[in-house]
Amino acid sequence: MSAPTLEVHITPEQLGAALRADVAHGLTASPKWLPPKWFYDARGSELFERITRLPEYYPTRTERALLERYAGEIAAVTDPRILVELGSGSSEKTRLLLRSLPGLERYVPQDVSETALRDAARRTADEFPGIEVHGVVGDFTESLHHLPTGGRRTIAFLGGTLGNLVPDERREFLSGIADVLDAGDHLLLGVGLVTDPAILVPAYDDAAGVTAEFDRNVLSVLNKQLGADFEPDRFRHVAVWDPVAEWIEMRLEATDEMTVRIADPGFDVTFAAGEQLRTEISAKFRLPGLRDELRTAGFGEVRTWTDADERFALVCARR
Ligand code: AVJ
Repeated sequence: MSAPTLEVHITPEQLGAALRADVAHGLTASPKWLPPKWFYDARGSELFERITRLPEYYPTRTERALLERYAGEIAAVTDPRILVELGSGSSEKTRLLLRSLPGLERYVPQDVSETALRDAARRTADEFPGIEVHGVVGDFTESLHHLPTGGRRTIAFLGGTLGNLVPDERREFLSGIADVLDAGDHLLLGVGLVTDPAILVPAYDDAAGVTAEFDRNVLSVLNKQLGADFEPDRFRHVAVWDPVAEWIEMRLEATDEMTVRIADPGFDVTFAAGEQLRTEISAKFRLPGLRDELRTAGFGEVRTWTDADERFALVCARR
C-alpha cells in the first residue's frame, strides 16, 4: 500500500497574506463582506462536517444518494484514469465514486484546509490501495495550473461549492477549467437546484445553531490569524434567500454598535447596531441555465442526474 503524498501550493505565509488582503478589502467595503473560504480552519471544517449531518441540510445526503445510485453511469460516461477533486473536504462522498472507476490510477484531492486534506488522503489511500493518492493544498481557482497529465481526466467539483462563486467568477472559473482540459476529459459538478425557500432557508439556519456557529467561526479565524478582537457572540447569524439572484446569502449581524481592532494589518472596523457582514453566497441553479453556461464555457455534451424532489443535481460535461 503506498502512502498518500501531499503537495502544498499555498504556504501558511501566502494564506496569511491572502487573508489580510481579503480582510482589508472586504471589511472596508460597504456593505462589508468576507469570502467563504476563510470559514475552513480545523474547527470550521469540523463544524461543516456537522452541518452535513443536520436534518435540515439536505444537500450532502441528496448528493450522496445520487452518487450511490448513479456511480456506474457516471463511470461509463467519464471513465477517467485521473480524478482531480476541487474542494475535496473529507472526500467522503467521492469514495462512493472511486469504487466504480475501474480504470482509475490516480486521485488528486485539492482543498484549502491542510488538516482536512491530510485526513481525507490517508483514509482514501487506506480504502483504495490500488489508487495513487496525491493531495494538493491550495485554492481551487488556482489549482488548475497544476493539473496532472497522463491519461483521460475528470475534474470533480461536488457539494454545491460552485454556488460560492458570483456569476462573473463562475464564468471565468468554468472557462478556465474548459481551457485546461483536453477533448474527451470531463467536468463533474454537484450543484444545488432552485427549490422551495421553506426548504432552502432552514438548510442554512438550522434549529441546533450549528450553521450559526460555523458562520461566526470566521470571526475566530480573524482573531487567531490577524490578532483581531471580534466578540463572536455579539453577531447574529442570518440566512436569506435572494429570489432574484437565486442564492442564499449568509450574513453576520452586529447586535450593537462596536469597534473591532484588526492588529494585523492594523486598522479599526466599526459596526453600527444591526449592520450586516456578508460571509457567503450559495447560489442555486436551474439546469437549462447551467447547461448554457457550460456550453458557453466550451463544454459539449452535458448529462444530468437529479433526485426525485429536484433539489440537487450531478452534472457531467464533456470537453
Ligand atoms: C460547502 C459551499 C457547498 O453552500 O451549502 C453550508 C457551505 N454554508 N452551510 C453550501 C455551507 C453553510 C456549503 N458549500
